[in-house]
Amino acid sequence: MSSVTELGYVGIEASKLTDWERFGVDLLGLQVADRSDGQLTLRMDHKAHRWIIVAGSADDLAFTGFECASEADLQAIAARLRAAGTPVNDGDASLAAARKVQRIAVTSDPLGNRVELYVGLADAATAFRSDRLSSSFITGQGGMGHQVLMERGVDRRQLIDWYGMLGFKLTDTISQEVAPGIVAEVAFLHCNGRHHTVAFANMPFPKRMHHFMIEVADIRDVGLAYDRCMDARQPFEMTLGMHPNDHMFSFYVRTPSGMNVEYGWGGLVIDEATWQVQHLDKLSSWGHRPPQVVSELLQA
Ligand SMILES: [Fe+2]
Repeated sequence: MSSVTELGYVGIEASKLTDWERFGVDLLGLQVADRSDGQLTLRMDHKAHRWIIVAGSADDLAFTGFECASEADLQAIAARLRAAGTPVNDGDASLAAARKVQRIAVTSDPLGNRVELYVGLADAATAFRSDRLSSSFITGQGGMGHQVLMERGVDRRQLIDWYGMLGFKLTDTISQEVAPGIVAEVAFLHCNGRHHTVAFANMPFPKRMHHFMIEVADIRDVGLAYDRCMDARQPFEMTLGMHPNDHMFSFYVRTPSGMNVEYGWGGLVIDEATWQVQHLDKLSSWGHRPPQVVSELLQA
């Protein structure tokens, strides 16, 4: 069955592009690809762009781009979605040019999130360069990272089935009582070796996306980014910690648009042939504490 191969780019509608540039470049170690009044694009690797920050008031996820290996795969996925009653529109040449892809089609998931299916994301003319990173971002076959989307009351089965039409398979699920009577539940889906590319969470959070994870090749780059964010007094969502399912060693920092970036190292690569779906009862093996807990401890 034809499947998307990776999450190739993510679009954010943001009210403060200059804050995003400082956050992305100075704190995370991304590189500016292009900058205009209406848009800021950022690079993580040899591709023309990975983050597309569009000026606007939403301060939320605007779109997600999933790569298809061929035009035939894109058409097969589009046909499957249409047969199931989801409209899919062919993107025109101006949209393809804006995204720097050869072909593009636009649809919407059951949450109302704009999903773009594309073929052929362009390479940049120059090598990736960051003054901040000592290693590099891990992209390649696992794509640019993973996103955790808020379920916002939509039935989880419907979401898993819809993303299943894109070729996603369930990796595992976690549920944990985070406060008396409040159970956080997250379902993790993969479309390549990366443990998950998309996840759905039922926790209360005011944005479409809880976080987007980017991964570095050297653990020291996590620590250095942690210090840069702290020195810049960028608000944290969670301190350093590790997840029990994808083994990611990471911290969560608030973006200028209010959702988070998870900055990680050591993410699990799974083998689809032997993988068994699991259910876990803990979101983090250790760490990932709310910053106020640490703050109170240090003050005590
Ligand atoms: Fe994550």
